[in-house]
Amino acid sequence: MSKIRAAITAVNGWVPDYVLTNQELEKMVDTNDEWIQSRTGIKERRILKGENKGSSDIAIEAIKGLLDKRGIKPEEIEAVICATTTPDMVFPATANIISDKMGMKNAFGYDVSAACSGFLFSLVTGSKFIESGQYKKVLVVGVDKMSAIIDYSDRATCIIFGDGGGAVLLEPDESGNGIIDSILKSDGSGRHYLHQKAGGSLKPASIETINAREHFVFQEGQTVFKFAVVNMAEVSAEVMERNNLKGEDIAWLVPHQANKRIIDATAKRMGIGSEKVMMNIDRYGNTTNGTLPLCLWDYEKKLHKGDNVMLAAFGGGFTWGAVYLKWAYDPS
Ligand code: UT7
Repeated sequence: MSKIRAAITAVNGWVPDYVLTNQELEKMVDTNDEWIQSRTGIKERRILKGENKGSSDIAIEAIKGLLDKRGIKPEEIEAVICATTTPDMVFPATANIISDKMGMKNAFGYDVSAACSGFLFSLVTGSKFIESGQYKKVLVVGVDKMSAIIDYSDRATCIIFGDGGGAVLLEPDESGNGIIDSILKSDGSGRHYLHQKAGGSLKPASIETINAREHFVFQEGQTVFKFAVVNMAEVSAEVMERNNLKGEDIAWLVPHQANKRIIDATAKRMGIGSEKVMMNIDRYGNTTNGTLPLCLWDYEKKLHKGDNVMLAAFGGGFTWGAVYLKWAYDPS
């Protein structure tokens, strides 16, 4: 019997309508379009406006389109894994909220917290449910409403992040396509360089934490940058080596969209030309857990059955990893 692999059989993304441009940020903080573009590659990002809207509202828009594309009903989904750093609430899990809003009555669900690597970690976790043979339809969601935890008076972070997300459906494949290999890594000693200081059990919300602006993202950018460049490239190269892959064998690199300079360095280390690197950071900024599914969604029409695809991410924690898969369907 051939091995059961977990294949992505559908992908969809969604971003809010509101476009926050570099020019608008110039009016909010001491920055400029030239600096932002040259240091990050970002031109604009999307923001979810309006009251009572959370990450789940982004996710359900993406999932509605995904189920339509695949022609299946919400009841057919058996599990929902939601990677998010900005859950609707501390608890219950946003996956449960999404399932309820979507009518995915037969699905169990939970959230994964691994910052920018969350989607990658969730993809691997979800693939194990499929490989075990116990589940046939697992939804993996990567979504963030980063604007909920960004300080728009801090120029070091507010220029980077945006809102958005996407989802993929994992189903069994016995034809050789699907997820083939992965390496996931964490190093908690890096937690000091990228985190939200308050709002957890260590430092619950209080008047003091609010006044000290501790419910926003804190990042020591340069340090994170250095670790990201080295680790994202190293882990991708390791997956390539142990699968005997050279740069020319890879059809697409799907890198986490944190900084164009990090992406370029990773591609160079892997021997992959820029024409084979998925990139949409210029339009969406860093959507944290949203970047990888948003890339797959944007480039879906260019992906072909059997394509060797390498996904790579680095994020807070620190967390990082790479996933090697063979794409399972042709553009419709
Ligand atoms: O997705 C999760 C993982 N996150 C990442 O991978 C992000 C990694 N880090 C980065 O992408 C970059 O470090 C940043 C984009 C955050 C910052 O770029 P940088 O090239 O590392 O800049 P820097 O922090 O070293 O700052 C350089 C200068 C400083 O001024 P001085 O001290 O040289 O006078 C900053 O104050 O740029 C200044 N600066 C700005 N200037 C204009 C910092 N932010 C801005 C800004 N506009 N928005």
